[in-house]
Amino acid sequence: MKRLTFLLALLFVAGGANGVAAQTIRISTDATDLILRVADNGRLYQSYLGARLQHEADFQHLPQGREVYLTHGMEDYFEPAVRMTHNDGNPSLMLKYVSHETTGGTTVITMRDGQYPVEVRLFYTAYPRENVIVAHTEISHRQEKPVTIYNYASSMLHFDRAEYYMTDFTGEWAAEVQMTEQQLHFGKRVVDSKLGSRANMQASPMFILALDGPARETVGDVMLGTIGWTGNFRFTFEVDHLGGLRVISGINPYGSEYTLAAGEVFRTPEFIFTLSDSGTGKATRDLHDWARRHRLKDGMGTRLTLLNNWEATYFSFDEAKLVELLDEARKLGVDMFLLDDGWFGNEFPRSSDRQGLGDWEETVEKLPGGISKLVAEATERGLKFGIWIEPEMVNPRSELFERHPEWVIALPNRDRHLFRSQMVLDLSNPAVQDFVFGIVDTLMTRHPGIAYFKWDCNRPMTNIFSPYLENQSHLYIEYVRGLYNVLERVAAKYPDLPMMLCAGGGGRSDYEVLRYFTEFWPSDNTDGVERIFIQWGFGYFFPTKALGAHVTSWGRQPLKFRTDVAMMGKLGFDIRIDGMSEDELEFSRGAVQNFKRLQHVTLDGDLYRLFSPYDGDHAALMYLSKPGDKAVLFAFDMHPRAGARALPSVRLQGLDPARMYLIEEINMMPGQRSTFAGNGKVFSGDYLMRVGLPLFGRAHLRSRVLEITAQ
Ligand code: GLA
Repeated sequence: MKRLTFLLALLFVAGGANGVAAQTIRISTDATDLILRVADNGRLYQSYLGARLQHEADFQHLPQGREVYLTHGMEDYFEPAVRMTHNDGNPSLMLKYVSHETTGGTTVITMRDGQYPVEVRLFYTAYPRENVIVAHTEISHRQEKPVTIYNYASSMLHFDRAEYYMTDFTGEWAAEVQMTEQQLHFGKRVVDSKLGSRANMQASPMFILALDGPARETVGDVMLGTIGWTGNFRFTFEVDHLGGLRVISGINPYGSEYTLAAGEVFRTPEFIFTLSDSGTGKATRDLHDWARRHRLKDGMGTRLTLLNNWEATYFSFDEAKLVELLDEARKLGVDMFLLDDGWFGNEFPRSSDRQGLGDWEETVEKLPGGISKLVAEATERGLKFGIWIEPEMVNPRSELFERHPEWVIALPNRDRHLFRSQMVLDLSNPAVQDFVFGIVDTLMTRHPGIAYFKWDCNRPMTNIFSPYLENQSHLYIEYVRGLYNVLERVAAKYPDLPMMLCAGGGGRSDYEVLRYFTEFWPSDNTDGVERIFIQWGFGYFFPTKALGAHVTSWGRQPLKFRTDVAMMGKLGFDIRIDGMSEDELEFSRGAVQNFKRLQHVTLDGDLYRLFSPYDGDHAALMYLSKPGDKAVLFAFDMHPRAGARALPSVRLQGLDPARMYLIEEINMMPGQRSTFAGNGKVFSGDYLMRVGLPLFGRAHLRSRVLEITAQ
């Protein structure tokens, strides 16, 4: 029926004034247009991607553009979006437009090959208010035998501009998401990962693409793009001989040719992007809004402050010590205590990272009263209780491995390759999925008082072989699908359970897995200076409430400095409180109270990046509440050099020029007086945005937090 209606519509419009409307597919948000058109040859072209056009009548003037989802083997000389081999060995594909429809913000375009029964459907969901477009693809066929697909992009986008600048977010353990911008010239630049069980570590699945010049914060055309896939990903940026750029995003096809049975639908992950014509700041704010409203687990909810015991104790704790920490958590005024690694294993007690992983029973010797006792002690103190698991992994020295050596990813005829003394469980196997789900389910069934999980994943895959799968080149993909199956089951049974995602620091952070997690751990590195950079990088794509940030002893900078940095994320502590002086404890308690009082601004407000740490020895950013009546500004001096250039003043953004704002410095050490001359004074928004405030100095490791209140 839908088809018929569509055909009628097509006939009707084609008979109209210029016939353009029937062949034009407009995917738009309030600020962006993606305009696709079917040419006379029946193929689909991207005619426009950019700021929203004002006059539909102009569409007829648009150039044809480049083919939307380029195939291999026909007329194109560059990297294709899709490549497959048919039953007769023919490797070509020619996609022609069949139909499209738009329902509830999602446009689905169906294309088919005239020679082979292959169907490709392109999906675009537009979020008008948030100015975000989410794209994915489905590939299927009806040939007699399975076909092999070698490339299967989530999306392909084209740009025709004078210059392209791409920023990637690369690094390693403890140095995640370091930003590097480079100009793209003829040829390909590939950003990808092959870690299997994680998306990121060396490279994170996100990028900034600036058009016509380097990316700037408040001006210029930029795109922010990211892929929702918790495994191998690949972005290919290819500039052709005419200066056109194609951006191909998707699962990394490396080692992953896929045998697609007749009737099976291969669904790619989602590519999520936003375009801004006023710099990266707006792009970030749009993406944050989208994430909070539409993607992140409990995106509109508040977050729990916590005390974690990892850096406070590592593996050396027992029941008595944990009870002491519960007392400390109460003194601090946080909402929750989070018990980290080291609480499980009996035949192979988890007294170090070398054994016990996989045996999810409390170590009786260490914790005679078990988790029940700890939950009860926490509850008595008015605290929630959270717990660490690393359910996808196993130490060979464990009862689990002795029982199920066939559950592990490893080549049967090669030496074992350990990483942090552990191996990856084969999540492509449904029996392993049951086991992993069972870890959460058993803990929750036995201890319904558990209020939070930290889900870790401390190694990538090597020795790639699944004892379960017939087709080894499916392993990278089936692993991730297996992970989502498990998380889906957890979410269905425990929909309101907050969870933090961790992967040896920031090894996992993508918008598919974040459907299941309220936050993630950006890095094991909690050194205040390093964290400014790491949180700055992740902050382009992820809202503050998704970034776990704990005060620890790492870096040994002044406690205030480390705390102010952690307040730019979801505040927690991972430090011995009884090692603090009275003043430090009072300061920390005050910081927890400030964080709670102001989280409607820092977690739910708009982020404005005011001064980049990459531009010198300082950094500043501010959050503005949605109603615009309250802002919180953070300013940092890292290690300014005496000979450095003049200190820039910090110009605020997003305020109302006509309104007056009171500025007060908060998060002060007891007895400390503000050295900021503007403290307690009232300024106009106009002044704050044009003249700015002299917040930077030449001292090392100094920080300021300002509370700004509209009068
Ligand atoms: C990883 C995490 C840490 C901690 C340890 C426990 O390194 O990133 O936060 O949980 O594992 O072994």
